[in-house]
Parts: sequence; structure tokens; C-alpha cells
Amino acid sequence: MRFSRLRRGLVGLGVLATAVVTLATGTAQAATPFVVGGQTAAQGQFPWMVRLSMGCGGALVASKVVLTAAHCVTRTGSNSSITATIGKVDLQAGGGQSIRSTYVYRSPQYASTGAQDWALIELASAPSAPLLPIAAQGQTSLNSGDFTIMGWGATTEGGGQSRYLRYATVPFVSDASCQQSYGSELQPAYELCAGYPQGGVDTCQGDSGGPMVKRDSAGDWVEVGIVSWGEGCAEPGYPGVYGEVQSFSDNIKARISSSGTVVR
Ligand code: ARG
Repeated sequence: MRFSRLRRGLVGLGVLATAVVTLATGTAQAATPFVVGGQTAAQGQFPWMVRLSMGCGGALVASKVVLTAAHCVTRTGSNSSITATIGKVDLQAGGGQSIRSTYVYRSPQYASTGAQDWALIELASAPSAPLLPIAAQGQTSLNSGDFTIMGWGATTEGGGQSRYLRYATVPFVSDASCQQSYGSELQPAYELCAGYPQGGVDTCQGDSGGPMVKRDSAGDWVEVGIVSWGEGCAEPGYPGVYGEVQSFSDNIKARISSSGTVVR
């Protein structure tokens, strides 16, 4: 049976699944745990987390650079139409910083392969916020255990965007296991999966581009994945798929250094 990736590339919806995941189909409801998929972040908990005005997430990875998903932007080039909001959990509250984009760099590989789903949004000025380090090229040791996911996307499949930043924990899923869900749609060299076998916790539309993080051996957050796609949200048997940062980290860093900012 051929898996259809209908939702891939939808920009502007998506979040952490909450409570009861209502399955649109007749999939075994009993397999869905009645778990709240995420909780509201505390102010300052994820200080490098960015909301982008086109309805995506991102993370501040260099002084003036936000890492997001390629499918959140249309093309490489000068672009002053995106606003990056950083430093607040509640999008309707005052405070925080809102800074315009100057340039977008879209992963050149994305258009041809559909993987390597990353892009950089260069900002007009540097927000005063800490930077999120990204996984180093080849650092596959981070591909294990639990990850933290976050965003202002939909809190249920098909639901609206969240006013508050929400986050949740999801476990690593091996490429072999994820291929059982997605077959050849998955590009394991550049994509990483995470989620519970029973579903219930996931990113969703509008979370795209946001970081999937874990703590490194020194206890510091590091960006391991970029929210990319999935079949529905939080469905049993269908983990979330994330751009695997370690597999294209050098390309990200090369672009950042050529644009003249410092990456961690
Ligand atoms: N493509 C979606 C977006 O643009 C993200 C979907 C993530 N889906 C998932 N089941 N984890 O926001």
C-alpha cells in the first residue's frame, strides 16, 4: 500500500498534539493514549526559539540568522517580508523582539531531492538572545533517547495555531522502524524520526522549521532536528519526520560564515 504524503509542505498550520488525538479514519482508537501531547513553555525556557510570520518555527543559530525549514520559504534571495519574533511565549503579549528579514537562503538540495529541508533567514539586526548550537556534521551520537520538540503550531491534527509556545518530549525512532511507516518516502540519510509507537505526541502544522533539541553531554541544548513532515499529526504508527541537522551541518555553517555572522 502506497503511503501518501499529503501534508508535506503545508506551511502555516501545525503544533504539538494535545489531549485526545481524534483520528479521521477508522484507525484503532484504542491505540491512542489519552495524553496531553504538550505543555505551555515558561518565559525564557527556550530563549532562542523563533516564530516566523509565514507561520513556521525557527531557532536563532547565529547572531543574525534563524534556521528553519526549506519548505517554509519559496526561494533564495533578498527578502524583507518575513518577521521573526523572539523572546516571548505568548504571541499576543507585548515584549520580545520582532525583527525583519533581509535575505533568505534555501537549501539548494531541497528542490531536487525533497530532503535536506533547511533554510536560513538572515535578519536586519541581531536579537539579544542566546544562540542554539547545532549538531556537528557526523554527530550521529545525538540520534538516541528523548528529544524536546516545540512550536506555536496546531495542538490537534487539523486544528488552529497556538497562541502560546508549547513543547513536548518524544523518543528517537530508528530509520529501519520509520521506514516501516513511510517506506521510500523517508530519506534516512537526511531525515530523522521521533514519536511514540502509539502516537499522541508530535509536532504538527505550523511547527515546521522549529528545532528538535536534546541536551549534549555538557548539559547544553543542541539542535538535532528541524520539524519537516509526517502523516497527519500524532497518529499511531506515524512518527514525526525531522531534517537531520548533523547530515547537513557543514553546509549550514558554510552559508552562515559566508554571510558574515558567527555560528556556534
Ligand atoms: N509540514 C508541517 C509544517 O509545515 C509540519 C508537519 C509535522 N508533522 C508531524 N506529524 N510531525 O508545519
